[in-house]
Amino acid sequence: MEAGGQRRGTQCWWVAISFSLMLSCVERVSAQIKYSVPEEVKVGSVVGNVAKDLGLDISSLEERRFRIVSGAEDAQFEVNPNNGALYVHGNIDREELCERIHPCIKNLKLVAENPMEIHHVGVEIVDVNDNSPSFQEYEKILEMSESTITGRRFQLPTAHDPDVVTNTVRMYKLNHNDHFSLQIRERGEDKVPFLVLQKSLDREKESEHKLILTAVDGGNPPRSGTLNVTVIVLDSNDNHPTFSQEVYYATIRENTDAGVFVIKLNATDLDEGLNGQIEYFFGGELKGNLYEIFNMDKDTGELRINGEIDFEKTDIFKLDVHATDKGQPPMSADCTVIINVLDVNDNKPEIEVTSLSKIVSEDSKPGTVVALISITDQDAGLNGKYLEVTQILSCFLTGGVLLKSSLEERRFRIVSGAEDAQFEVNPNNGVLYVHGNIDREELCERIHPCIKNLKLVAENPMEIHYVGVEIMDVNDNSPSFTDEEKIVEIPESTLQGKRFQLPAARDPDVVTNTVRMYKLNHNDHFSLQIREMGEDKIPFLVLQKSLDREKESEHKLILTAVDGGNPPRTGTLNVTVIVLDSNDNHPTFNQELYSVTIPENVDRDTSVTRVNATDLDEGVNGKIEYFFGGELNTKLYDTFSLDKDTGEIRVKGEIDFENMDVYKLDVHATDKGQPPMSTNCRVIINVLDVNDNKPEIEVTSVSKIVSEDSKPGTVVALISITDQDAGLNGDVLLKR
Ligand SMILES: *[C@@H]1O[C@H](CO)[C@@H](O)[C@H](O)[C@H]1NC(C)=O
Ligand SMILES: *[C@@H]1O[C@H](CO)[C@@H](O)[C@H](O)[C@H]1NC(C)=O
Ligand SMILES: *[C@@H]1O[C@H](CO)[C@@H](O)[C@H](O)[C@H]1NC(C)=O
Ligand SMILES: *[C@@H]1O[C@H](CO)[C@@H](O)[C@H](O)[C@H]1NC(C)=O
Repeated sequence: MEAGGQRRGTQCWWVAISFSLMLSCVERVSAQIKYSVPEEVKVGSVVGNVAKDLGLDISSLEERRFRIVSGAEDAQFEVNPNNGALYVHGNIDREELCERIHPCIKNLKLVAENPMEIHHVGVEIVDVNDNSPSFQEYEKILEMSESTITGRRFQLPTAHDPDVVTNTVRMYKLNHNDHFSLQIRERGEDKVPFLVLQKSLDREKESEHKLILTAVDGGNPPRSGTLNVTVIVLDSNDNHPTFSQEVYYATIRENTDAGVFVIKLNATDLDEGLNGQIEYFFGGELKGNLYEIFNMDKDTGELRINGEIDFEKTDIFKLDVHATDKGQPPMSADCTVIINVLDVNDNKPEIEVTSLSKIVSEDSKPGTVVALISITDQDAGLNGKYLEVTQILSCFLTGGVLLKSSLEERRFRIVSGAEDAQFEVNPNNGVLYVHGNIDREELCERIHPCIKNLKLVAENPMEIHYVGVEIMDVNDNSPSFTDEEKIVEIPESTLQGKRFQLPAARDPDVVTNTVRMYKLNHNDHFSLQIREMGEDKIPFLVLQKSLDREKESEHKLILTAVDGGNPPRTGTLNVTVIVLDSNDNHPTFNQELYSVTIPENVDRDTSVTRVNATDLDEGVNGKIEYFFGGELNTKLYDTFSLDKDTGEIRVKGEIDFENMDVYKLDVHATDKGQPPMSTNCRVIINVLDVNDNKPEIEVTSVSKIVSEDSKPGTVVALISITDQDAGLNGDVLLKR
């Protein structure tokens, strides 16, 4: 018995049986002779002299009807009955005859009659590099998030080359480029090319990368095929809005009507779509009433007057404005708007009547002062005269112009309002002394120098004196923060160098006794930067080292404000940085290759395997869905199903070993981040053969007519038995 055709998983046993009328059996089977011939060889080429090699008598070949009796498919070969040469009769295409089977052997069955002889001849068809590698796709488009970490791999399509062994795809090349290299992985016999990101992508610099993947076979000379690969860089919210100025200045006149335009702020953001759409808001630390005085158009950045502007109440406004994009997570920037108010002469001088004597006696002489008229005008500078009539002296003063002896008689005293009860004059000696507790911060708040103006009068004759007392600051207050704790949310994709404004500390003391500097506790990620905005010092956190939420999702910092007193006083603020998740982790399969074996004819809905990918990111960025790779043969979609949530692969169609003995599926796991990240794995499903095929019996008639006087032993028919099952399942037992 001879092994003939070697179709995958199939073995055939050709059996020649001769029947006699007596039902006695004779069989003759020859040993096999092998030839080899390259494919695509010229028609007419001689493969070998088969008659000679079989030891047949050349002269009797024609008479014995020596010929090939295999089916029509073997029309590639014929035997010349005159000389016994086996020659090429039709075009031989190895790829058509054997596809990927190697070696490619055509088995020929030759017969000679009288006496009947059957010979099997194998012709090996040698591969010639007549095919170039080619890709199924016309173009491959890969979408990659610009936040993709370097080193990350992306599977590329494989090229197909129907040639075998060294003539099939041997290597892949990638055109020279700045961002990607190529890596080849062996998966079973296949070579799979991967793009490896070598240098971070930046959509704002280059939103698309055009690459050329070349597959080269190992022929001599080699043949190649190319695929255009376009990498589209998806936007990440990696750009902060930027204001056109850090500080905007504007000047408005007091009493300007509501609705009047003050200034337009302009922040821009290089990102795309929502990541670049900006909204403007007042900073959270604004004094409540500023919201009533000004109005910010959140879309246009236009600042307009909304309430009353009164120079006498506030002569300068300092607004913090945030610009925030609509990315997820959002990024923001800050600016300061300083609005100077121009004074307008809108205050009439006020006339204050201070009664001097509670009782004005009937006999008061002409000239007796009955009232003191002081004129004050709240308008500043040229609009006011108050300052001009005020004499500023230093700490203590005795009324030098007055005679000590007459002080009591002339009722020398301070006539300012109740608020000045901190000072009194001793009428005996004219000494001005401290009478109540003096709190500079209460009297003057942030005004420096702090001068209390006292109005002193003496009667008979009436004299009015203005005395200024400057109250010196003492470092009696520590810097303090309005909030107990500051929470700063920072996306992990934030670029180094980005600044985040922190709240400023307040210290009601002035000059050197107020906040002089800030300090930040030692830490790995942040440094501190101080900006002067007008007289204020504003602390900013500066990111020094990239954040990684998956390593550390929170950073606890301590900001200390120090004043310039001697000794200095301090105040601290706990700053908690919460790291917001970015979709910077790819799903990872727990295996790169899943290999399973199922029996053929397995029931529909049987579970084959379950792929499992995990993603370190949070929320939707870590939520995974599974899909079959786009390059699957559509037939596979009918054979297997994949549960997109659980990754479970089940049998959906017929599994027939004789049709397909191994399935190779690509499965993608994709997270739901924006943009999403994905990973591939390969699932190899081997099919186990089951003895489900009955042997087939083929009868080849040898002679059309069997004569009446045929001798016992005359061959009348050839019976071939084939069984499509493989291995033991394909063994045929002949029972005679
Ligand atoms: C592939 O890219 C080359 C040049 O980059 C271009 O000439 C060619 O048309 C592209 N082919 C396809 C199929 O897009
Ligand atoms: C905002 O600033 C950008 C760049 O600085 C400029 O191109 C744009 O025209 C400005 N927009 C407005 C509304 O002023
Ligand atoms: C600030 O942090 C310190 C230690 O880190 C802690 O002891 C303290 O309670 C925190 N204060 C507030 C107000 O959270
Ligand atoms: C998937 O893999 C992860 C880590 O390898 C494991 O923690 C998890 O339990 C697995 N899930 C299933 C459903 O097997």
